[in-house]
Amino acid sequence: MTDAVQTPHVGTKFTPRVFSGIQPSGGLTLGNYLGALKRFAQKQDEGIETIYCIVDMHAITAALLDPVKLRQQTRELAAGFIASGIDPKRSILFNQSQVSAHAELAWIFNCIARMGWMNRMTQWKDKAGKHAEAASLGLFAYPALMAADILLYHATQVPVGEDQKQHVELTRDIAAKFNHDYGVDFFPITEPVIEGVATRVMSLRDGTKKMSKSDPSDQSRINLTDDADAISAKIRKAKTDPEPLPDTAEGLADRPDARNLVNIYAALADLTVEQVIADFAGKQFGVFKPALADLAVEKLRPISTEMQRLMQDPAEIDRILGEGADRADAIAQPILRKTLDIVGMIRSRRG
Ligand code: AMP
Ligand code: TRP
Repeated sequence: MTDAVQTPHVGTKFTPRVFSGIQPSGGLTLGNYLGALKRFAQKQDEGIETIYCIVDMHAITAALLDPVKLRQQTRELAAGFIASGIDPKRSILFNQSQVSAHAELAWIFNCIARMGWMNRMTQWKDKAGKHAEAASLGLFAYPALMAADILLYHATQVPVGEDQKQHVELTRDIAAKFNHDYGVDFFPITEPVIEGVATRVMSLRDGTKKMSKSDPSDQSRINLTDDADAISAKIRKAKTDPEPLPDTAEGLADRPDARNLVNIYAALADLTVEQVIADFAGKQFGVFKPALADLAVEKLRPISTEMQRLMQDPAEIDRILGEGADRADAIAQPILRKTLDIVGMIRSRRG
């Protein structure tokens, strides 16, 4: 862009690094577990550096939260991460606001991203709805902060659910525009990782709608804090059709409710849909649902028990988050400094 900026980074190779985040917006569902937490934990076994962030700054974009609640939900989410198998020694686990470089890089990205790009974001359109005038500027800028989260660590892979794909694509656009405008090859073009049978766990009441903590019906979702009775009851009452299970996976194509339950079974049991179908072909839901309920209870009970145990000691959770933030900051600071240098900002303070 200017002659002051050299292009020392062309051809940079990026070390594989995973980054993902979840908002502490209260309540974790089976969708969060299968679509995010379980996969985050598995990434730790792939010999790749993993960074997981509780995005408390994103959590206040839709509406301000009661501060006591925000702190509580942040700790609860941290407990959810750890109970789902994220080991704070093997992964970096922290809350976003403790690493101020996220906000600083987000500002630069606010100046890279175009209004038109942001206006096309479906999450913005859904959340702001007809009341865009009354929505916060933070909600509009949300995807630029998310891009900063990811690129501050030069993350190469971002495991997310289907619904976040567009935001990761925007992150790629921001990286590419930054690199192009400044004539550098500084930010990686990050890949969204959307894999597994449970990238979209659907509502138990409507197989065409995503299972979500914001659904008004508690029957529509399994919460990670539900006890065994609640889990079984919700699965027993889950919407299905009158047909038995088909002989092939293709037979589920036009049966969203049935397909959802089979997908959930497969994801919980670490099986493919074909393997589940092979076991249950021709069986009625009267047989399949109790099997699914038992499996869900078996897999989820240790998680809710561990979450409750961890929540007894909030100081320990805060300590873990603080340690994670220190480790995150050590990676983020040099990348932020280099970014500001590329942009032409003087950093001459000592210390
Ligand atoms: P959210 O709770 O919507 O902030 O999402 C946190 C993470 O969980 C993101 O990676 C989402 O893509 C994922 N997620 C949320 N709900 C579902 C769902 N029903 N199925 C699969 N993944 C989900
Ligand atoms: N927007 C994501 C969600 O609602 C949360 C998030 C924020 C995130 N920053 C991120 C996910 C960075 C992946 C990477 O689910």
